[in-house]
Amino acid sequence: MSIRTILKMGDPRLLEVSRPVEPIDSLALAPLLNDMWDTMKAANGAGLAAPQIGVMRRVVIFGYQTNPRYPDAPPVPETVLINPLITPLSKAIENDWEGCLSVPGMRGIVPRFERIRYQGFDQYGQPIDREVSGFHARVVQHECDHLDGILYPLRIEDMRNFGYLDTLSEQGIIKLQPCDDEP
Ligand code: NI
Repeated sequence: MSIRTILKMGDPRLLEVSRPVEPIDSLALAPLLNDMWDTMKAANGAGLAAPQIGVMRRVVIFGYQTNPRYPDAPPVPETVLINPLITPLSKAIENDWEGCLSVPGMRGIVPRFERIRYQGFDQYGQPIDREVSGFHARVVQHECDHLDGILYPLRIEDMRNFGYLDTLSEQGIIKLQPCDDEP
């Protein structure tokens, strides 16, 4: 188990489409997943996608029971999601601030579907099928975007809503939000 280097925006690998995991072999996946959890937790992240550590496979992890930095954030179950499929459950869009461990120090307002269904498999090959909303839905959409080579700045509709976290905080424009996958 080890903490891996997180690729940053500018690395072309972050713009690639990752390949499905077939078959889902728990034993073969274990070292990757251990490294992903170690790396995510060391960075106090809410989620991490395999391509962020240079592994171009359709694997994401996310979730936490409590996060002392975000006491009001609803818990999200710690989840390994492989070969995910996202289906919006309504057209309703929510705009909120997001960050990304691959875009350190920045925040932007990103539109996301408010309610989604997500399906896929866990590390044992067991199916996952959930309907979620709000922050949970945002994290899943953010992480799964990484599997298609999409970083959140590509989804910002008004680039005036993109900036440095320290400045945005000093200006009182944002408080630290639970939708960050960055400390
Ligand atoms: Ni990210």
